Amino acid sequence: MVSKLLALNAYPKLRDMDFRVLRGVELNMRHHRWVPLENVARFAHLDVETTSFRLGRLDDWGLVVRRSDMGYIGYQLTIHGYDTLAIRALARKKVIEAISTTQIGVGKDADVYVGITPSHEKVAVKFNRIGERTSSRKAGYHGKIFQNKRHTSWLYISRLIAQREYEVLNLLSPLAKVPRPIAWNRHTVVMEFVDGKELAELSDTYLDCEEAEEVLWRILDEYLKIVRFGIVHSDLSEYNVVLTRGEILIIDWAQHVTTADPESLEYLERDIMVLLNAFKRRWHVEVDFNEVWPRFKEAWIESRGGE
Ligand SMILES: Nc1ncnc2c1ncn2[C@@H]1O[C@H](COP(=O)(O)OP(=O)(O)O)[C@@H](O)[C@H]1O
Ligand SMILES: [Mg+2]
Repeated sequence: MVSKLLALNAYPKLRDMDFRVLRGVELNMRHHRWVPLENVARFAHLDVETTSFRLGRLDDWGLVVRRSDMGYIGYQLTIHGYDTLAIRALARKKVIEAISTTQIGVGKDADVYVGITPSHEKVAVKFNRIGERTSSRKAGYHGKIFQNKRHTSWLYISRLIAQREYEVLNLLSPLAKVPRPIAWNRHTVVMEFVDGKELAELSDTYLDCEEAEEVLWRILDEYLKIVRFGIVHSDLSEYNVVLTRGEILIIDWAQHVTTADPESLEYLERDIMVLLNAFKRRWHVEVDFNEVWPRFKEAWIESRGGE
């Protein structure tokens, strides 16, 4: 489902003190499920009455939610409030100057919009939506990774996911065909805008069988390089490969694991199977799993120091 970036409706109406109030709610959420009004006021350097008034407006715009049945009045940041803080931070750091209200990418776990940099370049701005879409496999996966941490709020998890994706793109982009990362803030990653189409979006007749097979081998070669480097994607599919003019790019690295993780071999196997099946189903490309797998397994072993 395509959704509008709700944060942008409120954004032009916000004053500096509103950002301080939002930030006060955000920071206090580390220690409170529902942040007391007084804590927000103290953080924002405002009196309680003004803070309450500003929070009322932020509530109307969907940036915070209020609860008063606990013996005190408490607030939580919503995902739109979190978006607002990320957009503000990225704008202040001159990473983006503007952002479109219409979504470009509809993923399982993120909303992606086009941003414009101060030098008028187009960039992709990916807002993680994990925690909100709890049915996602990725949420389960990250839940597992972070289960040992004390704090597992969606704020914290979606921020860690953004950081992990930024970091792996930073490692991979000099050596492999993945989007170049530009910045991250909170739950948001800004990266090179890829002007192309996901394989899933291409019609069955867009490629003939021979062309499709060539594309498949290009993806496999690229992935082999990445596995040898020590990274497994863990969600490779026709949705996460983009075909641009003559190039392929592998996107959506939020749930990657390193080959040091013992389960990574299983994820790698699934990645290859999903990819081969997609090409078989869509374009009748018959590449046998056993023809491909030994090379990947070898690369996987090699990346772990050849055990
Ligand atoms: N760098 C990018 N440039 C252009 N479009 C992108 C970019 N990154 C993602 N998208 C679009 O947004 C969609 C969702 O992004 P993705 O990283 O796959 O997140 P999700 O975890 O939600 O699947 C992609 O399928 C693609 O259409
Ligand atoms: Mg995706």
